[in-house]
Amino acid sequence: MSSSNVSIYGLRSNGGQHGDVFTSPTVVCFMLDRVKYTANRDLRNVRILEPSCGDGEFVMEIARRLLLSAERYSFDASDAFRRNVRAYDIDGAKTETCRKRIREMGIVSAEQSILTADFLRAETDKTDIIVGNPPYIRYENIPKDMLDFCRNTFQTFHYRCDLYVPFFEKTLAALKPDGQHCFICSNRWLKNEYGKKLRQLISHKYALKTIINLEGADAFQEEVLAYPAITLISAGKPANTFDYAECKKVDELPSLSYSKRMMPTDEDWTAAFSTYCDDPSFLTIEQQGFKIGIGVATGADAVFVSRDLPQQVEPELIMPGINARDLRGNRFQWQGEYLLNPYKTDGTLVNLADYPRASAYLENHRERLSARHVAKKSPLRWYKTIDRISPSLLSQPKILLPDMSGNTFVFVDDGAFYPLHNIYYIVGRSSIQLRLLAAFLMSDFIRNQLAAVTNAMNGGFSRWQSQHLRKLRLPNLNSIPANDVQNLLAHYERKEISSINTMVGKYFARA
Ligand SMILES: C[S@@+](CC[C@H](N)C(=O)[O-])C[C@H]1O[C@@H](n2cnc3c(N)ncnc32)[C@H](O)[C@@H]1O
Repeated sequence: MSSSNVSIYGLRSNGGQHGDVFTSPTVVCFMLDRVKYTANRDLRNVRILEPSCGDGEFVMEIARRLLLSAERYSFDASDAFRRNVRAYDIDGAKTETCRKRIREMGIVSAEQSILTADFLRAETDKTDIIVGNPPYIRYENIPKDMLDFCRNTFQTFHYRCDLYVPFFEKTLAALKPDGQHCFICSNRWLKNEYGKKLRQLISHKYALKTIINLEGADAFQEEVLAYPAITLISAGKPANTFDYAECKKVDELPSLSYSKRMMPTDEDWTAAFSTYCDDPSFLTIEQQGFKIGIGVATGADAVFVSRDLPQQVEPELIMPGINARDLRGNRFQWQGEYLLNPYKTDGTLVNLADYPRASAYLENHRERLSARHVAKKSPLRWYKTIDRISPSLLSQPKILLPDMSGNTFVFVDDGAFYPLHNIYYIVGRSSIQLRLLAAFLMSDFIRNQLAAVTNAMNGGFSRWQSQHLRKLRLPNLNSIPANDVQNLLAHYERKEISSINTMVGKYFARA
């Protein structure tokens, strides 16, 4: 590795310059494969950019592939290199080494393509492919004029930003409409404060395709960077999902197995990148013995749900019904509506002859009830509801989750209400376990997971739906120490969400 006499960002303790971490050839090849810069393609018109080329790890492999492609498709590799390969480095000694290496490979046009310049200030053309390993320069090591320039020029240069962040912004902006971008870089921006604006930019304007977390892998030519990641991003519409993998050895890169993750739509990517999904100590709600359901759809709420039912039908056929209106504004306030239950405990319909008052009431609405699709399918059972009503659900303790609610509080009913169709519910364990689960559901960590799985923040409204609830992961509630259980329950009763967040955060800290 060459190094200039002038140190722009200061020297590391091993004598190397800050920001100089050279990529291993295995990683370089993998990344060029992923962006499809491959020798079996006609590469003559594919424009490719390396914004901080150093001695040329990427550029040499680009040249090698271009030469093979030129042989195969009969074109002049030097001419194609001159027209379509651009590499920059601020350090003239490195670009000189890089040019020399390229010339030695038989390419005669290295001068026009490998440029000594501060890439962040360089004028760039739109490009099909961008690959590289931008400099990691901590905020405190960035020279003042560069710091000022970055602050004034790049919208993602936020807080105590590292220099690689503006490299992302500038290169992403240089992508052609179908362009592909692949960097190996520190993964810190995925989670921390200074990466926030970059995450926001990517969430809104680009399609994140793949993240490969290389923490602990041997991705570089020396062991300096503890937290690298490879990201593959393409220009164009944000995607709903991306592929995520963890890699401990770079030799395994080509054979990694990926899991699909939901793409967050804002700058908080915590849930999307945490490893809880693959961590066996984090379980789904159903794996913990709870059941998730949705309240009953009747097909004619005006008939089956009413405050007047106690005056109209036999008391054994009615039960208090709960719907989203009763759980508004963080308050649980039953409006007095009852649900008419035409079923026996064995799930068959009651014989109306046994219930003269209910019979008269339903007969009054017969025309309307019979017009429902469910009644047309079985005309003799014209007074059934769309979903069967299970009377035993009434007395079970349950969490009640109104879909699309602005509530921050999650309510538990100790067994007095039957959920109606705009309420999702969770049952199956004791009232204490449900309260503990409710406390978790109120935490930011679960709310962020929910936002990630629903792929939207819905303007701050949580969409509690069964298919989303089933994807959430949380620690095994049985393994939470008794003391923590007591504290969480106390915070739950007092609606102390920030204390819940602090406690729940502890369980997710390693995720
Ligand atoms: C992490 S090294 C990567 C080198 C090479 N891409 C690789 O992967 O082996 C970062 C390189 O960025 C260069 N660099 C630092 N600041 C730069 C700037 N403002 N413009 C262009 N290159 C810069 C450094 O000289 C260094 O060679």
